[in-house]
Amino acid sequence: MTALLLNSVNKSFGEVHVLKDISLEVMEGEFVVFVGPSGCGKSTLLRVIAGLEDATSGEIRIGGTLVNTTPPSKRGIAMVFQSYALYPHLNVRGNMTLALKQEGQPKSVIEDRVQKASRMLDLGPYLDRYPSELSGGQRQRVAIGRAIVREPKLFLFDEPLSNLDAALRMNTRIEIAALHRQLGASMIYVTHDQTEAMTLADKIVVLRDGRVEQIGSPMELYNNPANQFVAGFLGSPSMNFFPGDLLTDGDTRTVGIRPEDLFLADDGPLAVRVSHVEQLGGDTNIIGHAGNHQITARLFGQHAVSPGADLRLGFQPDRTYSFDATGARLA
Ligand SMILES: Nc1ncnc2c1ncn2[C@@H]1O[C@H](COP(=O)(O)OP(=O)(O)OP(=O)(O)O)[C@@H](O)[C@H]1O
Ligand SMILES: [Mg+2]
Repeated sequence: MTALLLNSVNKSFGEVHVLKDISLEVMEGEFVVFVGPSGCGKSTLLRVIAGLEDATSGEIRIGGTLVNTTPPSKRGIAMVFQSYALYPHLNVRGNMTLALKQEGQPKSVIEDRVQKASRMLDLGPYLDRYPSELSGGQRQRVAIGRAIVREPKLFLFDEPLSNLDAALRMNTRIEIAALHRQLGASMIYVTHDQTEAMTLADKIVVLRDGRVEQIGSPMELYNNPANQFVAGFLGSPSMNFFPGDLLTDGDTRTVGIRPEDLFLADDGPLAVRVSHVEQLGGDTNIIGHAGNHQITARLFGQHAVSPGADLRLGFQPDRTYSFDATGARLA
């Protein structure tokens, strides 16, 4: 079953055309991640799905029903924002129950759902506290709890973890994955974070300048990017790009090689002058230049290489990508 279907959705703010002909399908129970550079339209697209903004044209269907004119509260969705947006004058219980009270749900149903959600999110001990008395991670869990109690068919998350520190982000990321398994609901999740996108998504939608660049599973996009933008956007450190004539005279293609596909080889075709070395313990990132093109190699294990060294890098020919001058992928 399809949970959400977008058919040629456009959104303009006055003269500014922000979403361009967006079509995509989210299956029931699927975890879909939107990624793309700042300003590409990720939040606007979520807001259009939620009904907080009207689409200028195109169809939005939730569970098969056209919802273009359905108010947000009747769409069966719940949205979690980056900024938490908790009500400061309500305690945790009050924040979690407000929407249910507004819906006129019976007391017993409300209590039941609050108990269930607070157990899932470890919020039991905090139900009487006010937002100002909570840590950032706890506040974010309340914001998620407030969405869970509504038992939506579709969750929308707009960068929910970006205010958290690295350790808490990782914990909360794992919690969100567990929550998704437990609830079996469809989720759409916006993030800037590579790791979140790769680890949480069943399907990633790469957006650029209001358009869909590519849709696929994380490994499909990583291994088979449709164009240079997607190739460069996914992966950290990102894919190396350099002109083909660095390898073969007169070659007009742009060649792409992922950092982990480069290795040290005395007779390798890429001559690199090392400018910087990152020793990560498990891996070593070597950043250098071939001519005036920056090249990053990610080597497994520890390597004693110093800035200023000259070395040669090799690669398997079938681990390279080719792009034309417009960034389109060549066979
Ligand atoms: N109400 C509005 N009026 C006019 N332009 C808007 C409005 N809301 C958003 N925009 C513009 O639409 C574009 C997309 O904005 P949006 O917030 O969707 O980007 P985003 O991908 O979520 O970016 P970020 O990663 O920084 O959150 C931006 O250029 C923004 O300036
Ligand atoms: Mg945004």
